[in-house]
Amino acid sequence: MLRLETERLVLRPLGTGDFEAYYSYTSVPENMVYTIFGPFTPEEARKFLEMYENWWKEDPPRVYEFAIMLKKENGKMIGNCGLYMDDEKRATAMLGWYIHRDYWNQGYATEAVKALLKFGFEDLELHRIHAECNTDNIASARVMEKVGMRREGHFIKNRFDRVGDRKMWYSEFFYGILREEYLNKQPLYGGKEDRLMDFFEVVDKRYSYRGEFLDTPVPREDLIKIVTAGIKAPSARNLQTQSFLIVTDADLRAKIAEIIPQKGIATAPVLILLVSQRQELGPMKVSFELKDYGAAAENILLAIAALGYATVWTDGETSMIPERQEKLAELLGIPEDRSVRAVLPVGIPKDPGGKQAPRKPFDELVKFNRYS
Ligand SMILES: Cc1cc2nc3c(=O)[nH]c(=O)nc-3n(C[C@H](O)[C@H](O)[C@H](O)COP(=O)(O)O)c2cc1C
Repeated sequence: MLRLETERLVLRPLGTGDFEAYYSYTSVPENMVYTIFGPFTPEEARKFLEMYENWWKEDPPRVYEFAIMLKKENGKMIGNCGLYMDDEKRATAMLGWYIHRDYWNQGYATEAVKALLKFGFEDLELHRIHAECNTDNIASARVMEKVGMRREGHFIKNRFDRVGDRKMWYSEFFYGILREEYLNKQPLYGGKEDRLMDFFEVVDKRYSYRGEFLDTPVPREDLIKIVTAGIKAPSARNLQTQSFLIVTDADLRAKIAEIIPQKGIATAPVLILLVSQRQELGPMKVSFELKDYGAAAENILLAIAALGYATVWTDGETSMIPERQEKLAELLGIPEDRSVRAVLPVGIPKDPGGKQAPRKPFDELVKFNRYS
């Protein structure tokens, strides 16, 4: 029997033997507000389970509907999820899921949907997976964003169907993800294990990526995590001289790419600019500003790598050329007392798998106690 496993869940084919658990949530109106069918009578629930079971008997199945079972609580079934082939070409499919309301808000849907994506792209070798949801169904939209699906459409009152206990015209979000996006988004997907890297792996895996990016947007949630890592970097006397400009607007990005002609900057779906407040030089002819900037930049680079995106620290190409500085300041409304120190392209790399540049031998760089 097909079995998919995640950290906390086991997914296996759903069938008529699962009536009790299936009916326990598909019969509850609160659980079925945004679902196309339901809430179910016992007869309807049995009919659906029979249908799922029969689909599993097809070779190959056109629908793969799984029971979602907890590893703890003696393998209790807490929901179901499935992949529905769009047609006989078996290149694209829709996904969907239900979780028992007692188990909402614990990340189980995200974990199950990630397993479905892995199964769909790695085992079924699909080209694209998509799903739709009512725009009021914020929890479902968030699940799709968390697993890296892109919001590709916002249809206004496009569908006349049941919402809760009445039928109405409602709006839908359409989400999609392509095979190459799934495979390139290391290490969140496509790796041996579906998990975030630990800190030392991030330090080890971070590298300067100088190629082109896929146009897959970086979710706002990830951007906030990334710049927050910059805000949390140490700052001399805690003067907090660093600020951050996130540019997602396509016209502005194109104009920045004209100023700094670099493949990554021209193709990345988002640019993060490190905007630094100039400081008086101290007696040692240095300012804290640059030290703060270095700390913030490295935290940001590590956060980008930890979330599975790529970037490169383009400082030489930005802050060392006064003419570019001036053009950026004018284009982006940078205040007089601040300057753009770096433009970081962020996104999913088109050619992943790069490596950090080699380092000098450990013994050359590190001494214990006395330098010589
Ligand atoms: C202050 C600073 C400025 C940099 N400026 C650029 C740049 O303008 N363009 C670029 O391609 N890389 C730039 N880099 C990236 C370095 O070239 C890169 O980190 C180094 O070669 C080591 O490679 P790695 O990042 O893969 O470990 C910069 C790095 C730092 C710390």
